[in-house]
Amino acid sequence: MSDSSRFTITAALPYANGPIHIGHLAGVYIPADIFARYKRSIGADVLYVCGSDEHGVPITIKAKKNNITPKEVIDKYHKIIEKAFLNFGISFDVYDRTSNKLHHKIASDFFKKLYENGDFIEKISEEYYDKSENTFLADRYIKGTCPICGYENAYGDQCEKCGSSLTPSQLKNPASMLSGGALTKKKTKHWYLPLDKHESWLKNWISNLDKKEWKQNVLGQCQSWLSSGLQPRAVTRDLDWGVKIPIKEADGKVLYVWFDAPIGYISATQAWANKKGNKWEPYWCDENTKLIHFIGKDNIVFHCIIFPAMLKAHGDYILPYNVPANEFLNLEGKKISTSRNWAVWLHEYLIDFPDKQDVLRYVLCINAPENKDNDFTWSDFQARNNNELVAILGNFINRVFVLCHKYWGGCIPQKNTIEKIDLDLISELKSKPKEIGNLIENYKFRFALQGVMDLARLGNKYLADTEPWKLFKEDEGKNRTETILNISIQLITTLAIVSEPFIPFTSQKIKNMLNIHFNDWEYAGKADNLNPGHQIQKPSLLFSRIEDSEIANQINKLKKN
Ligand code: MF3
Ligand code: ZN
Repeated sequence: MSDSSRFTITAALPYANGPIHIGHLAGVYIPADIFARYKRSIGADVLYVCGSDEHGVPITIKAKKNNITPKEVIDKYHKIIEKAFLNFGISFDVYDRTSNKLHHKIASDFFKKLYENGDFIEKISEEYYDKSENTFLADRYIKGTCPICGYENAYGDQCEKCGSSLTPSQLKNPASMLSGGALTKKKTKHWYLPLDKHESWLKNWISNLDKKEWKQNVLGQCQSWLSSGLQPRAVTRDLDWGVKIPIKEADGKVLYVWFDAPIGYISATQAWANKKGNKWEPYWCDENTKLIHFIGKDNIVFHCIIFPAMLKAHGDYILPYNVPANEFLNLEGKKISTSRNWAVWLHEYLIDFPDKQDVLRYVLCINAPENKDNDFTWSDFQARNNNELVAILGNFINRVFVLCHKYWGGCIPQKNTIEKIDLDLISELKSKPKEIGNLIENYKFRFALQGVMDLARLGNKYLADTEPWKLFKEDEGKNRTETILNISIQLITTLAIVSEPFIPFTSQKIKNMLNIHFNDWEYAGKADNLNPGHQIQKPSLLFSRIEDSEIANQINKLKKN
């Protein structure tokens, strides 16, 4: 079986203004990674792209706060973020950054093409200005009350509560994030993407999508924006940090960060292609390629309305095939907050749990905020590890390996007469990988992972029902023991393959223990992957218990903040 389809999988470019926490991982990077790994294992042509988002006000605010330059900010956090992703096995084909020259050129050319096509409108308007700081108060330099939902900490470009995209002048009670002083207004000229002109094709496009595949939360947001009418949106800013605008009149201005950042997906693809000597065009210009954006819910408008409008106006590019956005992850009942340091930072987690990347991957997936906001708690983390990974998955695999070594020195025994209980297991073994695959295809990663654990549960039940260790002592029981252990090893082979998208480090350990080198999904579900006589390794520890004291430690650490 080989899947000839091509997928361009993008994960939202994180702002390089701070490290990455569990909310990022659960909402975006783990689901995208599961999808990418699964697609690779069925033989699809996959390009999984990401990179640091290094422009915009989030970066300059951080620089000002720490009294360093924006360049120092992005250099520091780009490194930390890239390393965290690597440590957690996020399998990007490329992790780029938007401060790269190539990106500046591609983003600037993109703007120029739209400018020359006459796709923008120009407008002079009065915008908020901070006299003491000598700067316009765009985007996150200004905060106020959201006119749509009443949230009091909405930014000048977006309300993170209801997801609406805003402009500073829409905010009620606007306040400068810089000096906090009185606001004045000043005239300035900007270029606008006339979203109103794109409204009708966007409506058409969204209503013709395969609604079975698009998530309800995403469609709902799109429809509500479209029905309330789109407004022209400024794509330039009076700032000095960003991609310079390639026209004379716009001297001293830069692209709006949400104009340049998504183009970063394209630049990252080109950077990858240049390095590998491959073509980038198939991933962005071929109608048969499926472009999938993995994002958090606060990014929906940008990926479902604004970026598609940009792509359409440009003309060379495909539109997204799906945008499986997730909701938010809370931590111990409260919203994750960088400023209040209410978060679990990946680089800190790794210091406390240096070999438990898969445990976090597992917990964040099994409890992912797929359809509603969800809560991460340390006690759930401990319970999932001890009662599921250790007691179910680890235990089953360990028991089978130990028996195999005890009775046959690690040499896989033969299969003898098959009984009904064996047939029942084999039939589950056959059908589960297909089910798991279908769930992944439909972005139902929690159910898919439950399917993996169901297979391990079946294995434990099979051992408990057949008790091969008792049978071995009886003469006529030896044949049964051989059959049961052979089938159990085949089940572990399938577990190694179907667990790979979720817990890749563990999957690799199991494959090493089994002495196998394949990971193709087509082998999952087969009851004869490994021949009798095949030698396996001694079992190594896959998971270990997490003690109460370790959990208390984490809770204390949070409470100190
Ligand atoms: N940096 C943005 C955020 O963290 C996401 C940018 S996604 C991209 O919300 F499409 F612009 F790349
Ligand atoms: Zn709002």
